Amino acid sequence: MGTAAQVQEKNVNNSMSEEVLAGLSKSQKTLPSKYFYDKRGSALFEDICELDEYYLTRTELEIMNGNIDAIAAKLGENIQLIELGSGSSVKTRLLLDHLNSINSYIPVDISDDFLAEVAENLQGEYPVLDIIPVAADYTQPFELPRTKPGVRKIAYYPGSTIGNFTKENAAEFLALIADLAGEDGGLLIGFDLLKEKETLVDAYDDSKGVTAEFNKNILLRLNRELNANFDLDLFEHRAVFNEEKSRMEMHLESKADQFVNISDAQIHFEKGETIHTENSHKYSLESFKELTESHFRTVETWTDPESMFAIQFLESK
Ligand code: TRP
Repeated sequence: MGTAAQVQEKNVNNSMSEEVLAGLSKSQKTLPSKYFYDKRGSALFEDICELDEYYLTRTELEIMNGNIDAIAAKLGENIQLIELGSGSSVKTRLLLDHLNSINSYIPVDISDDFLAEVAENLQGEYPVLDIIPVAADYTQPFELPRTKPGVRKIAYYPGSTIGNFTKENAAEFLALIADLAGEDGGLLIGFDLLKEKETLVDAYDDSKGVTAEFNKNILLRLNRELNANFDLDLFEHRAVFNEEKSRMEMHLESKADQFVNISDAQIHFEKGETIHTENSHKYSLESFKELTESHFRTVETWTDPESMFAIQFLESK
């Protein structure tokens, strides 16, 4: 007999193995990108954010730094700031330091442990701020803590994470956020802009090979958690720009005709066949407007001098 915790773990692994095997049974093999972010994956992603080629993180921060007073002015007063994703970043602190009058800060994340840690650390730094962590999958409807009338709900979604959704899922997500923010609410969002292919490919295929490590880490995780036997030397990181879909695609390409065991299944790979692991959509200001306009009105756009990245403040319609 297992303990409750063991039983729960087993269920988690069951659904993980079902999802993984479903993805690897398609003609274009896929893996759910959420499995990138185990402990090592999260650390590797932080390393990616500091790479010369990965301009996104530092450009977003540069835009925030250069426009923080204007951003704070647009967001208004008596705000409940709802951060979708872990929080705790430099950007979060910049906002918390500059917002005109903040009612509360609500970090929302699926990972309970990480969330509690983040909230505790921030509370130490902002002792009088009302910080209420909410553990939820923010791609599904979830409840916010009650607020007094007159509090303005502002969702914050930095990091160009919106780009990792397909266009359809991005539209669904935006509908959900508009609903969450309500009538007087808004959304502060960072997204990556379409640019020349070379710059994009370099950002997702860096010279130090950190992104390749990050991409392959998902296979290591399957080896460990699903008893798989991927040979990491027989898969290669591929970052390709899909022009038609305006997105970077991450793949893992099999270097040989091979079989891999996962749980109780055996998966065949042809030489040259890929597993599609992630998308990162690149928007123009026009295509982003098309994506958002059914639920939001664009209030203001901030960008860097080279128009690499954009931050927008949108109000719910
Ligand atoms: N949100 C990040 C992005 O789209 C995620 C990311 C960066 C990523 N580099 C990656 C995902 C490499 C997979 C592989 O830029």
